Amino acid sequence: MSDPSPWWRDAVIYQVYPRSYADADGDGVGDIAGIRARLPHLADLGVDAIWMSPWYPSPMADAGYDVADFRDIDPVFGTLAEAEALIAESHALGIRMIVDIVPNHISSAHPWFQAALASPAAPERDYFWFRPGRGPDGAGMPTDWRGEFGGTAWTRVDDGAWYLHLFTPEQPDLNWDHPGVRAEFESILRFWFDRGVDGIRIDSAALLFKDPALPEVVDGRPHPFHDLDEVHSVYRAWRRIADSYGGDRALIGEVWMPSVERFAAYLRPDELHAAFNFDFLGCAWDPALMRACVDRTLDAHAAVGAPPTWVLSNHDVTRHVTRYGRTDTTFSFDNNLDGTPVDLELGTRRARAAALLSLSLPGATYIYQGEELGLWENENIPPAEFQDPMWGRRGHSRDGCRVPLPWSGSEPPFGFSSATPWLPQPPEWKDRTVQAQTGDPASMLELYREAIALRRAEPALHHTAMTWLDVQPAVLAYTRGADFACVVNMSGAAVALPGHESLLLSSGPLDGDLLPPDTAVWLRRQT
Ligand code: NOJ
Repeated sequence: MSDPSPWWRDAVIYQVYPRSYADADGDGVGDIAGIRARLPHLADLGVDAIWMSPWYPSPMADAGYDVADFRDIDPVFGTLAEAEALIAESHALGIRMIVDIVPNHISSAHPWFQAALASPAAPERDYFWFRPGRGPDGAGMPTDWRGEFGGTAWTRVDDGAWYLHLFTPEQPDLNWDHPGVRAEFESILRFWFDRGVDGIRIDSAALLFKDPALPEVVDGRPHPFHDLDEVHSVYRAWRRIADSYGGDRALIGEVWMPSVERFAAYLRPDELHAAFNFDFLGCAWDPALMRACVDRTLDAHAAVGAPPTWVLSNHDVTRHVTRYGRTDTTFSFDNNLDGTPVDLELGTRRARAAALLSLSLPGATYIYQGEELGLWENENIPPAEFQDPMWGRRGHSRDGCRVPLPWSGSEPPFGFSSATPWLPQPPEWKDRTVQAQTGDPASMLELYREAIALRRAEPALHHTAMTWLDVQPAVLAYTRGADFACVVNMSGAAVALPGHESLLLSSGPLDGDLLPPDTAVWLRRQT
């Protein structure tokens, strides 16, 4: 019989970006040994699961999202035996493990692509999208499609054919119409489930299929490489595999989708268990927008019986301390480019309130490493040090949110490594190290620790619906169960707290009985 309240419905899931968590071997890049040494941090934080960004062998053309072998570990991170040890050690601490699988594309260094390059007659060509070019000499790209990072989506090989890559040329797209591709990924899933992992995060989950007629992208016509219906048959097959492992292995999709209905289709009972809520991540700090986003999220998920997720940051977007530090309410994922001044104190205050919001809404909550330390985007990385391929293609770098974590000490590398970290850390992070924040009741880290511990112990925060409380339009207030309430003041002025029996937690100092702007509280209500 299936568990009516499986862990993935309301877990706190912590994203480890292995390059930047902790470096044990002194090469300036994080590794598995570093993660194992720093696992106590995650146990102290109280998270239920780790989502591990890719750790597989890779030329690192896209920081590991260009995978050359899904069944091994890149030497920069360690070995498969170390990965297995980490899974076992995490489990011993009660922390589950989710690995990242990238099905849309693989690395150009993968043996399939190397074989495909060797000869136009190689059967491996059919695993990819090789096509002749346009024009008499075939020198024109097969389509005018633009890649997801900007730039063209086709590259020509020596024999004159072109291949499709929706990301960098080092990430050729796979042909999901080929049964061999399906079989290979089903086998990869089993490989990791057999190693005890509890879930799979699915990269670019809506992209897999392409219209073989290769039509151009035209507004108002079906999109040729996004969200094609065939993709659902893949996830139904994957769900059967996950379920065959006893019912508590989860599939979590990275599904960027403008339409809420199309998004929810991925979460039907026989498909993915959950998907990242980019609607929430992308929402500006604005009460009307935020309330509408929460409602949209709840409705969309209720329609398919899936748990909502609440995500504030990840390795692809500007850290939310910086995003929320804007005094206007416009939002873009790479908003650090447009020169709008950022007030980091304001952003930090809002990020503290957002922590209480995202940890008390119904569903699962994701924490991107460093968010619990209140890290902001490093906007001062010299372009010469950018590593992100998006920089070359779209003029925007995601490196500012990928900077190695500060653990201890008063100057870089802040205990991350004995060497110079692969990306520079702001010297101002001396107050944001784990060491500096531990034991300081006013710190972001202690706020997260306390909130997660309270969430774990609070029955109302598990599997109860939320109900809006009518305070005033610019204040988001809701109850969970009979006696728990969260109040977030998004108005510009202090407001009276609704009646309550006791204050459980506050994201910042209260002003007598008043809740200051950009502050949130958890309350025990009178019943
Ligand atoms: C989504 C990942 O989150 C991102 O980091 C990566 O660049 C693209 N997929 C391509 O794999």
